[in-house]
Amino acid sequence: MQAHYPAFKHGGDMLQIDMLTKRFGDKTAVDAASISVDKPTMIGIIGRSGAGKSTLLRMLNRLSDATTGSITFEGKEITALRGAAKRDWQSRCAMIFQQFNLVPRMDVVSNVLHGTLNKRSTFSTLFNLYPQSDIHKAIEILDRLGIAEQAPKRAEALSGGQQQRVAIARALMQDPKIILADEPIASLDPMNAQVVMKSLRAIHEEDGRMVIANLHTLDTARRYCDRVIGMRDGRIVFDGTPAQLTTGVARDIYGAGADFSEAATSTEIETLDRSEARNAEVHA
Ligand SMILES: Nc1ncnc2c1ncn2[C@@H]1O[C@H](COP(=O)(O)OP(=O)(O)OP(=O)(O)O)[C@@H](O)[C@H]1O
Ligand SMILES: [Mg+2]
Repeated sequence: MQAHYPAFKHGGDMLQIDMLTKRFGDKTAVDAASISVDKPTMIGIIGRSGAGKSTLLRMLNRLSDATTGSITFEGKEITALRGAAKRDWQSRCAMIFQQFNLVPRMDVVSNVLHGTLNKRSTFSTLFNLYPQSDIHKAIEILDRLGIAEQAPKRAEALSGGQQQRVAIARALMQDPKIILADEPIASLDPMNAQVVMKSLRAIHEEDGRMVIANLHTLDTARRYCDRVIGMRDGRIVFDGTPAQLTTGVARDIYGAGADFSEAATSTEIETLDRSEARNAEVHA
């Protein structure tokens, strides 16, 4: 299939992903992916199930080792990091998951403080001792995300959208340069999905952090991201702006036949403010 690279073809010294490949036995999950990002950007990665989106994110924060290829961030080779340097990188690119990954029975603020774990001594970790400044910072972040009043509650008592914001708060405690989000809204209802995407967007715009989110719906990627990357069978087959992501291109990415329908990749977020979405379509 013809690859589409209408934009972002050149430049990029902030993040460089070069011919990144991951094989599991005979299966090539990510196949020579190259991405270049020259400034903090909000990027959405789309593609059907099994396209390699999660594998790509996992290699980025070194949860999974690349088979071949390289990742450089601000000139530093990430794939080569070991030990403390690798852990330091992992705290610089915090990951958020579909299932939030909180400790359900622990209170919200302690969950958020977990984001500082790798910066603390074994002793203070063992006895759950957190510096006052960290506790204040945690509350401030929760407040920013609109959930400060939830701080003393157990994580399991919160709604999905609130729990995902706790996970975002935990990520922010690490003061990350990049936030990697693997299907952050896939378990949420449309209203909560919108709140979480808006939070990620605000963190990108206000703090200048890079956000890379795997999204299983086209409209979410179009609406919240500056740049969309489409993967198919492990390969990057599209890299451009939301405006360049036409229905024809989407059909290529999702590999659907003539009966391809955007509705099949759409969430109900759109129905919340459909007129706004329609206007965007008209002007795209
Ligand atoms: N640990 C693993 N061992 C073997 N195969 C794997 C492993 N992880 C992923 N794969 C395979 O690699 C391919 C890409 O998987 P990946 O999870 O990255 O896709 P995805 O785009 O995130 O899909 P989804 O939208 O379902 O989350 C799939 O064929 C998957 O079965
Ligand atoms: Mg996945």
